[in-house]
Amino acid sequence: MPELIPILSKNEIDQRVTAIAAKISADYAQSELVVIGVLKGAFIFLSDLIRKLSIPVEVEFVRVSSYGTESATTEKIRLTYELETEIKNKDVLIIEDIIDTGLTISFLVDYLFAFNPKSVQICTLIDKQERKKKRIDIRYACHVVKEGFLVGYGLDFAEKYRYLPDIYHLKL
Ligand code: IMP
Ligand code: MG
Repeated sequence: MPELIPILSKNEIDQRVTAIAAKISADYAQSELVVIGVLKGAFIFLSDLIRKLSIPVEVEFVRVSSYGTESATTEKIRLTYELETEIKNKDVLIIEDIIDTGLTISFLVDYLFAFNPKSVQICTLIDKQERKKKRIDIRYACHVVKEGFLVGYGLDFAEKYRYLPDIYHLKL
């Protein structure tokens, strides 16, 4: 049986999301901000985050497929749901669930820059540090871990555990 070891409770998540939302609200007070959630993993984080912002935002989504049902990066990244709005000259904030190797997010940053936005920054629920393959500038991170496979609060393993309100380390 897989073991679930608690990492962040829903109260801790809530506090961190509140703090990040305050920073984002201050940093983008004078901007036309578009937040772009990365499906599916970021949908819960994004929905909590935007309701804590004190500034207006547009909400968009993209979907990338990379992991399949395994817990290791295949390194083949594909967009399966594309951006459907104009982001030219707008400030863009990508909302991710977790950044591991960094390959997915750097693929997305390149993809979005092609639409000539004013800026592109990254906001992630979790920054997993040990396996980075690309240097990326993560402007906002709610939580940093060294390693391990995390589930809950949107994060899945083979489509399981997304619905859990807390975040766990999954030990197979
Ligand atoms: P990267 O391209 O290696 O940075 O992987 C990023 C994507 O892989 C994330 O958007 C997640 O969907 C998935 N992923 C990476 N690590 C985990 C994890 O610990 N739990 C759940 N999904 C993960
Ligand atoms: Mg993801």
